[in-house]
Amino acid sequence: MTQQMSVTTTQSEDGESPSGRTPLSRDRILAAALAYTDQHGLQALSMRKLAAELGVEAMSLYNHIDNKDDILVGIADLVFAEVVIPTPYWVSFPEQVKLAGGVPVYVDTDEADGFALRAETIFDACTDRTRVVVLNTPSNPSGAVIGRSEMLDLAKLAIERDIYLLVDECYAALVYDGAEHVTPLAAGVDAKDVTILCGSCSKSYAMTGWRIGYIAAPAPLIKACTSLQGHSTSNAASVSQYAALEALTGDQTPARQMLTTFAERRDAVLPRIREIPGVTCVEPQGAFYAFPNVSALLNDDLPTSAELAGWLIDECHVVTVPGTAFGRAGHLRLSYATSMSVLEEALDRIAAACESLTA
Ligand SMILES: Cc1ncc(COP(=O)(O)O)c(C=O)c1O
Repeated sequence: MTQQMSVTTTQSEDGESPSGRTPLSRDRILAAALAYTDQHGLQALSMRKLAAELGVEAMSLYNHIDNKDDILVGIADLVFAEVVIPTPYWVSFPEQVKLAGGVPVYVDTDEADGFALRAETIFDACTDRTRVVVLNTPSNPSGAVIGRSEMLDLAKLAIERDIYLLVDECYAALVYDGAEHVTPLAAGVDAKDVTILCGSCSKSYAMTGWRIGYIAAPAPLIKACTSLQGHSTSNAASVSQYAALEALTGDQTPARQMLTTFAERRDAVLPRIREIPGVTCVEPQGAFYAFPNVSALLNDDLPTSAELAGWLIDECHVVTVPGTAFGRAGHLRLSYATSMSVLEEALDRIAAACESLTA
């Protein structure tokens, strides 16, 4: 067996970056590199147009100061108290809330219900100290997508209770089987005053290295975010902004192809995971992860998913992420943002290793 690690934990050596084909000329790069832009981003950047289309009052562009700065910047001006985070959650949400001085409050979604977010359950956990509910649709790690009627209920309750919905929609373009990505702004009620949208070019355009994201939110929040940005990085790197402009306004065929490729991989990977004795897996409706329940594989020698993940590294040189990182024990997260041949090899190895556990 080779020492190669398989199943990536992030989007990586896929080689399918549409931005790789972005026709940014050398002159344009050099011109862009010589200038600051407005702190909230290029006037020309279509994201501003997008803000107008979304009906939000303001929009800000930013470079990620470190790799996960986007949500933190979004929350930083808001948090005085509790932030409700549904589980399973993206690993950074709790840390970002704590960094911004807030207190994370966790609400479990039901695996038997496909990890769907239920508005009543979420708002039952809100108190008069709750300022924000974090929504991530499609979800990393479960792939769950918030449907239109649930989003409408969430938006109505958010308006009624005067609580912000912070929507991380960085996988918005990656939804499968006709599932639709809906934000509170499009759910059928005027939710402008309670909605903060956080998006990114990283996933939809495989532009992880360009470090471009955006926030669309009510004007006072954008003003605060712009101040934060102004006193930290000044503006998003101008070269990256031009690359984002090309990605957003250019030919979308590569991005559509990427979606088809991810859908094919999901369809190939899911049955292989479900074939492993004792393992169940909710079908992901979006993003590029599977989040199987592996509790049946745990035993006295491997009592937790973290130990199981460590054992898979040692045993078959395959990297997965334990569910505890996402607030849900008894699970592993697998990413299918890598080539089909790597995935097949990884799944062969996982299946053989797991067989030895249940034999
Ligand atoms: C749900 C979610 N939000 C935000 C990010 C951050 O992405 P980036 O900083 O590349 O935009 C990630 C990255 O994995 C993610 O999964």
